[in-house]
Amino acid sequence: MIHKTEAEIASMKEAATLVSKTLTEVAKVLKPGMTTLQIDKLCDEFVKDHKAIPSFYNYRGYPFTVCASVNDVVVHGFPNSEPLKNGDIISIDMGVILNGWHGDHAYTFVMGEVTEDVLQLVRVTKESLYKGIEKATINNRVGDISYAIQYHTEIKHGYGVVRELVGHGLGRSLHEDPQVPNYGKRGTGPKMKENLVMAIEPMINLGSKEVYTEEDGWTVRTRDGKPSVHFEHDVCVKRNQALILSDYSIIEAAEKANDNLNTAYY
Ligand code: MF3
Ligand code: CO
Repeated sequence: MIHKTEAEIASMKEAATLVSKTLTEVAKVLKPGMTTLQIDKLCDEFVKDHKAIPSFYNYRGYPFTVCASVNDVVVHGFPNSEPLKNGDIISIDMGVILNGWHGDHAYTFVMGEVTEDVLQLVRVTKESLYKGIEKATINNRVGDISYAIQYHTEIKHGYGVVRELVGHGLGRSLHEDPQVPNYGKRGTGPKMKENLVMAIEPMINLGSKEVYTEEDGWTVRTRDGKPSVHFEHDVCVKRNQALILSDYSIIEAAEKANDNLNTAYY
């Protein structure tokens, strides 16, 4: 596993924060009728205007800047020209390379009215991300993060934890060791040392954990057609408390100021 210097972590924080700023721009303008292709274009321009490179574009042939995963799409949804509507939940996942360092994080937005069970899924998934992050301290093991997420979502709330996709180390590459599953056993997996940087990203289904990949080779959907939520932060392992490199506070402020978005869950 690769451990970063303090200077490298400062650079990674800039990369992660640029993703947060881009997602904040999305939070400002999201409204019914808008398309995920428009979001993709906005993000692509914003990143390039800030001297960074969208990292997903062309990654293993991925054809867009963002992943836009609506409702039963779990992750890796292609932006398209279908207008978004009230009742949609929209995860935007995006990566950048800034000065050679990767930032990669995601946020799920709720558009207008959704049922109480969907709102709770969004809340619990976001909470589970922070429960996982709490375990990202030195001498803990990756399985402690995994278990904390699984406990809060699957064991406590009965949601489906996606098994096929996992969080990951992050740095000069988009995917470094270790893999960070959203399910697992306490006290198992690699032991974490200071300045290991990881993207922790619970993907949680309202219904069963089963998913499938569409013919396009990317779009991952729930088998039962029920909604799925994805949140992702970039975090750095520290002695007493993990350092979160990405920043939800600016996204949440923009989200709260946008009347088209539902923030009643937090
Ligand atoms: N957050 C995802 C990941 O960790 C997004 C990758 S999408 C891809 O891999 F297009 F880059 F593959
Ligand atoms: Co990721």
